Amino acid sequence: AHVPQEAATGPLPGDSRVDALIEAAYAHAATHHEGTVADYIPALATADPAQFGLSLVDVHGGTHEAGDAAALFSIQSISKAFVYALLCDAVGHEAALATVGVNNTGLAFNSVVAIELNGGHPRNPMVNAGALATTALIPAASPERRWLTIQHGLSRFAGRALELDDAVYASEMAANQRNAAIAQLLESYGRIRVDPAGVVDVYTRQCSLLVSAHDLAVMGATLADGGVNPVTGERVVSAEVARDTLAVMSASGMYENSGEWLFEIGLPGKSGVAGGIVCVAPGKGGIATFSPPLDAAGNSVRGQIATAYLSRALGLNLF
Ligand code: DON
Repeated sequence: AHVPQEAATGPLPGDSRVDALIEAAYAHAATHHEGTVADYIPALATADPAQFGLSLVDVHGGTHEAGDAAALFSIQSISKAFVYALLCDAVGHEAALATVGVNNTGLAFNSVVAIELNGGHPRNPMVNAGALATTALIPAASPERRWLTIQHGLSRFAGRALELDDAVYASEMAANQRNAAIAQLLESYGRIRVDPAGVVDVYTRQCSLLVSAHDLAVMGATLADGGVNPVTGERVVSAEVARDTLAVMSASGMYENSGEWLFEIGLPGKSGVAGGIVCVAPGKGGIATFSPPLDAAGNSVRGQIATAYLSRALGLNLF
């Protein structure tokens, strides 16, 4: 399909133009039926592959949406970006860099080989190893307090109290041997210094928080707005932390396909296996999609196509 292309210099176009392009991006992506719904977490296998939502929230809180933008799904790996932001805000740039790292692994999100190849260093907070290390570092006196800190922090990004999907949490906990192994491996390397089982539990809860595409777009808009939620007006993290988080999302947010994503879309993004993607246009807004069928790297097929369309048509590509 012909995709209109704008240069990335100006502000977002007017509301009616954005609305028309959201509709066009949605219609274009909806013609695609490739991909498969994740089933390694049994509760995710029951997702309706036809559900498809698209939301754009700009840095003034203006909202443009199409399809199932209010449908709820588990945030999954998208939580990693926002928990990392909370960590950077709590412990600072240097400590986060030293312990978790910022380089792409070039390997799958749940790779154990990547840990071994790097002498026990998780390399970045977007893969499971780095996300488990990130969650472990969130300052808290107990796993329960750590969970409440994360739930509250992610809720501030979204501008509403996010709740747990109990069925997804229970299902993932029962099928979580790989994450348990990764956490123990990190403990053996001294990269996790609290009880690894507690870390896996909190990490699994953070992944099981329910969000909509609209919520994710508000969360993305908060990073686009230098850490201030444009809907609530609340500062969630500092501008420096928002910038650091976007850098890490750019390098590794789409796992081993992060280079292709940057090449096609040119914006920081983060995906989750339930079918969500959040994408951030710094200074402009957040774009989020929800469509469960995934490609081989675990990224939503329709989400990537709709976001690529909007990046071009709205002139968002940073490069
Ligand atoms: O740990 C896991 O495997 C899931 N809770 C999250 C993985 C995920 O979202 C990978 N994304 N594309």
